[in-house]
Amino acid sequence: MCGIIGIASNKPVSTNIINSLKKLEYRGYDSAGLATINENQINEKKCSGRVEYLEKILFKTPAMGNLGIGHVRWATHGVPNEANAHPHSSEIVSVVHNGIIENSKILKHELEKKGKIFKSQTDTEVITLLLTDELKIKTPLNAVHDTLIKLEGSFALGIIFKEYDDMIIGARRGSPLAVGYSKDENYIGSDSYALKSMTNKISYLDDGDICVLTKDKVEFYDLSKNKINKKVLTLSDDKNIADKGDYKNFMIKEIFEQPITAKNCINEYIDKSREDINFYNIPFDAKKINKIILIGCGTAYHSCLVAKYWFEEFTSIEVETDIASEFRYRKIRFNKNNLYIFVSQSGETADTSAALDLCKKNKVKTCSVVNVVESTIARNSDWVLPIHAGPEIGVASTKAFIGQMLLLYMFSLKMGYLRGDIEKEDYQKKISNLIKLPDILIECLKTEDKIQLVAKDFLNSKGSMFLGRGFSFPIALEGALKLKELSYLHAEGYPAGEMKHGPLALIENGLPVIVISPHDKYFHKTISNMQEVIARGGKILLITDSNDNVISENVRFTINLPYLEKSLSPFLSAMPLQLLAYHVALLKKRDIDKPRNLAKSVTVE
Ligand code: F6R
Repeated sequence: MCGIIGIASNKPVSTNIINSLKKLEYRGYDSAGLATINENQINEKKCSGRVEYLEKILFKTPAMGNLGIGHVRWATHGVPNEANAHPHSSEIVSVVHNGIIENSKILKHELEKKGKIFKSQTDTEVITLLLTDELKIKTPLNAVHDTLIKLEGSFALGIIFKEYDDMIIGARRGSPLAVGYSKDENYIGSDSYALKSMTNKISYLDDGDICVLTKDKVEFYDLSKNKINKKVLTLSDDKNIADKGDYKNFMIKEIFEQPITAKNCINEYIDKSREDINFYNIPFDAKKINKIILIGCGTAYHSCLVAKYWFEEFTSIEVETDIASEFRYRKIRFNKNNLYIFVSQSGETADTSAALDLCKKNKVKTCSVVNVVESTIARNSDWVLPIHAGPEIGVASTKAFIGQMLLLYMFSLKMGYLRGDIEKEDYQKKISNLIKLPDILIECLKTEDKIQLVAKDFLNSKGSMFLGRGFSFPIALEGALKLKELSYLHAEGYPAGEMKHGPLALIENGLPVIVISPHDKYFHKTISNMQEVIARGGKILLITDSNDNVISENVRFTINLPYLEKSLSPFLSAMPLQLLAYHVALLKKRDIDKPRNLAKSVTVE
């Protein structure tokens, strides 16, 4: 959460700071701000709301200066207003922060006892005030180092100093920070995406590192202030990353991109001539894995849940799933014969990253399924499986979900094959069906017109329910999550078989109930559960690949999907559910790419 940018240059920086903040808005968008140094003054501008408001402020009162820092906020301490927006500046120093200072209350109390006055309710301001004291007697590097020692929690920081109009200091502990290099200009940023339009040469700070940059050079220091070197990476050239083209917003673009992202992912891993899945350099023996534990948050967790069914179906391995924020605090019995798989679009989610760190400490086998290959989770795991979905900008995850499921589908199939748990013929048949998936997804997206009609039913509803069994149960959870995060309507996902154990009490006349029922072994059971809902007045949207007209009686809408292969049904049914959440949100005039209270990259726990 929160995005940081810093630029040291030989020309004015405020325009590039604004442009970078616009790219970082996916990390938080409830307030924005920047500070530059000009004529020996700190020039601070900030506002609540979006970067576009900050841009308007700058239009009226420009912030001059060849060095500056900027911030987009996702509020943790203090409401999203102007006073709490970053940077937090004193007379002599200005700070932007991503993360949480856990001992901020104690530090604040100590500072107040010394007579210091706080202007905001944030945890960040303690850093500003501590630094202000330290700078009276120390160099910027020593002042920062000695301040960081007092802080508990996680942070990425960008700091500028009134007396040093050519210097930015960055620091990292637990929250990501990248450094970018260019001619006569150097940068810090929360991620490479924010820096990509200015440079493709990047280094990443590790926990405990401090960087000192001017326009001409960058120096790195470790926890003990020893100078260290960092690898400089060259970023891949992603074209059209921030362009929504003719689409209304990124989310609908990303929904319709899914057939292409699926194709790219399949081409990356599938050898069509040999009908085989290429996973190179697998760093363990598939036959010796006793148990798989899949870990993630939110939508990524839902892809883990779907994958549990696949691993159980295609392999003889025991499988568990875990929510990262729970896993990291439980008393886990780690086992060296287990494989711990971490799923994360951003690769920066704090809970998932901490769960991975715990596994590393316990020296067990780890693997990550990520979209951002330069991310912390990718760098910290033993083995990385990139989903190749390209940058996902809409806060609600769509194409990354499909990419995560694809990778996990291929992984479970390959594991089954390597262990001799599935026959070659079955393995290759599943691969040849998988190759057809991108074209089938195009067909599934053609349901949009009908979904637009269905969406109207949700306008006046109190809430809704999503039901499924087997592979379709996690898809029901994901459908409900998408609807609630985008439309702010209450939505619940349940295994259809659980209804009579409580949730059936919620069914009343006209309540929209989405039933996901492909023609798999659960089909007739799910349809019976659906009848129980109809009998109590529920208004049904049935999503199925069955053409049985009798089934559709008393059903308000039926979305007919093509049939591909039972185990691939989660990919197909996810399409109309994403479209449904999108169209309900559109009718309700929600901010689709940036739903309220959320952020794309959840870097606080
Ligand atoms: C929902 C959504 C979130 C993320 C979750 C994990 O649409 O996007 O639930 O899936 O915050 O994020 P990553 O995958 O980046 O770890």
